Amino acid sequence: MTKIRCAIAGLGRIGSELESDSKREKPATHAGVIHRHPETFIAAGCDPDSSKREHFRAQWGVNALYESLDDLLDQEKIDIVHIATPPETHLDLVRSAVQHGTQVIILEKPVASSLEEAEQIVSLQQNRQSKIIVNHERRYSLQYQHIRKIITEQTYGSLLSINARLYMGRKRALHQMLYDDGTHMIDLFAHLTGDPLKPISVHKVHQGTCAFIFGECGSIPISFETGAGRDHLVFELDLSFTSGRILVGNGYYKEYESKESPFYTNYRSLIRNEKSFTHSRYFSSMFEEAVALFKGHALVPVSSVHDGLSALKVIEDILQTN
Ligand SMILES: NC(=O)c1ccc[n+]([C@@H]2O[C@H](COP(=O)([O-])OP(=O)(O)OC[C@H]3O[C@@H](n4cnc5c(N)ncnc54)[C@H](O)[C@@H]3O)[C@@H](O)[C@H]2O)c1
Repeated sequence: MTKIRCAIAGLGRIGSELESDSKREKPATHAGVIHRHPETFIAAGCDPDSSKREHFRAQWGVNALYESLDDLLDQEKIDIVHIATPPETHLDLVRSAVQHGTQVIILEKPVASSLEEAEQIVSLQQNRQSKIIVNHERRYSLQYQHIRKIITEQTYGSLLSINARLYMGRKRALHQMLYDDGTHMIDLFAHLTGDPLKPISVHKVHQGTCAFIFGECGSIPISFETGAGRDHLVFELDLSFTSGRILVGNGYYKEYESKESPFYTNYRSLIRNEKSFTHSRYFSSMFEEAVALFKGHALVPVSSVHDGLSALKVIEDILQTN
């Protein structure tokens, strides 16, 4: 069998290095997922930083290493390009991959560092044959697939509201928080409800480093608190249904169903169901879709560049809303 040839642009944390974090679910990186898939291999990589290239060579035994994606694609025949570089480089790298006729591009989130650049990326894809997956990986995880099923099948009745929290680090500016990690949350709101978040009001606190965002996804009210100042990470959604509740976050999943109350006669209370997940398969499922796209099997990615652009539009809306 001829294996599918993958190349990674950006040999830093999500490109390769996080695979060495013993606590993370594996695969946790682009190199890790390619390495583990039976039909693919890491054919090449590029990074302007020579120490990253040397580290990558030592870790994965790959010798076809270049300073730029243009050089790499001039020299190597590549089927799937993984773009794992800072957002301000994404437009140039997508352009290079598209111009070299790459069939599938996996693009790290956020799509770009501005709305204008993200729109250019969308038109680059429309004008050529390349298919782009944006790595909003929770769309591919077992937990969020399960939640979507519960919503569509109305297992616990109607979804009535979502309350969400995102705290990532002590010092990041609100704008940065929304671009770096808020993009995952905002993308999930759209993925779960079927409608992009329409922000109605944004109340900033703590000298503008944190915000309470209120809005709607279609008819579903959303409250979203985000900001800096914490010494711990929180990425959490609390979904309330007519007859149930789901609390999901990084590393935990709790599902509750309305049942006859053990505490009060003639009332119902939320009782925890046993449902749990030992792993999410977030990276592997995303990559399986990329392989299927390369083979021509799947037509519309679960996480498309249009979805990624839509998340950035919402972020810009939030930043303009008072
Ligand atoms: N999906 C996720 O959960 C997740 C997690 C972490 C990071 N990310 C995203 O991945 C991207 C990279 O983040 P990171 O944390 O790995 O950053 P990083 O700084 O650890 O790695 C980025 C690497 O890209 C290299 N680079 C810069 N410009 C380049 C270019 N033009 N061509 C090739 N390489 C270039 C840098 O030298 C660096 O080694 C960002 O868009 C980030 O938001 C996503």
